[in-house]
Amino acid sequence: MIVKDLKLRNFRNYETAEVQFSPGLNVITGLNAQGKTNLLESLVYLSLTRSFRITEDSALIRSGCDFASLACTVQDKDRTIQLGSVIYSGGKTLSVNRVPVKRTSEFVGKLNTVLFSPDDLGIFLDAPRERRRLLDQEITKVSSGYLFALQNYRNLLKDRNALLKQNVRDDSYMEILEERMIREEETVILGRRAFIQAINENLPEYYRRLSGEDAEVRIAYQSCIPLDSEIKSSLKKMYDLSREKDLLFHSTGSGIHREDIAFTMNGTNVISCASQGQKRMILLSFKLAILNYIEAASSTKAVLLLDDVLSELDRNRQKTLMALISNSVQCIITGTEIPEFISRKQLKEFRVDQGKLIQGGSA
Ligand SMILES: Nc1ncnc2c1ncn2[C@@H]1O[C@H](COP(=O)(O)OP(=O)(O)O)[C@@H](O)[C@H]1O
Ligand SMILES: [Mg+2]
Repeated sequence: MIVKDLKLRNFRNYETAEVQFSPGLNVITGLNAQGKTNLLESLVYLSLTRSFRITEDSALIRSGCDFASLACTVQDKDRTIQLGSVIYSGGKTLSVNRVPVKRTSEFVGKLNTVLFSPDDLGIFLDAPRERRRLLDQEITKVSSGYLFALQNYRNLLKDRNALLKQNVRDDSYMEILEERMIREEETVILGRRAFIQAINENLPEYYRRLSGEDAEVRIAYQSCIPLDSEIKSSLKKMYDLSREKDLLFHSTGSGIHREDIAFTMNGTNVISCASQGQKRMILLSFKLAILNYIEAASSTKAVLLLDDVLSELDRNRQKTLMALISNSVQCIITGTEIPEFISRKQLKEFRVDQGKLIQGGSA
């Protein structure tokens, strides 16, 4: 899929912006703090209905304004989809083809983006919750059933925890809850297993090519059940083993809400062995592998958003990266300048200056 155009009003430091993207490579240049990341953020918002930088939507509204509005046109094979959102202090509205939608799941997945941002480098050291969020976010892009199961599981988990806090035991209600949880957890674990397997098909090769190193980079699934085990019976066993302890601690200690992934290099967690530069390339390789995953699972390509990535790479790696993505995918990339090895003919260039975006090289 490609995003054909984007219209913003009162979003971050943009009063208004209208962009027509090229289906290939788009480069947004500008000095620091002019609005480059803001523009990518608006596309991520239209993709996921939330920002990757903040949790409070109100910060997205231009200072002094009452609302922000975002709209884009997505072309997915022969389908054209219009997505819109209005953010105001009390909440947000979402629309698909100008028809308001209530559920996030009706909106998410219409525009799929994969973002690389230097801020993502925290992911290696973050709490497991952040890595799960990343995992869930990517799988949700290709499976609304996954999102549905996850939401159902969260509600059931709340019910089970409430039950664990009661003074009286209710074993039959506990059994019903666990049975339902197992059903939802099976969907989630299947989704996570498929994601991890798909990523590992491409991640090691991307890393080798980008880094030029002969190292094996993979992700490992730290699951609540043994890795290749039959899911339902393993989950049943898990609950049977943990129930008494859960009653004692009044909370559910095991399950998909405690799972994690680890990035490994030659079998060792990268936290303890990779340099900052290597972590950057691991993350970049991971994002490229996610593009393959989305394409394989949904038979459409996601839009690649690369925030400030080139300035951190040396010339050879810049070239390798551009060769890896060239032509195969729509890419929107930000930076202070365009490296001279990229021909101007191959790209559409925009420049942003204090929230004003214009096409072409000079503001
Ligand atoms: N809600 C807002 N209203 C007005 N300006 C904002 C808002 N949020 C962020 N900004 C401004 O946006 C700029 C940062 O934009 P950003 O896209 O992060 O810059 P960069 O071009 O370096 O990526 C800053 O000048 C900041 O003050
Ligand atoms: Mg930025």
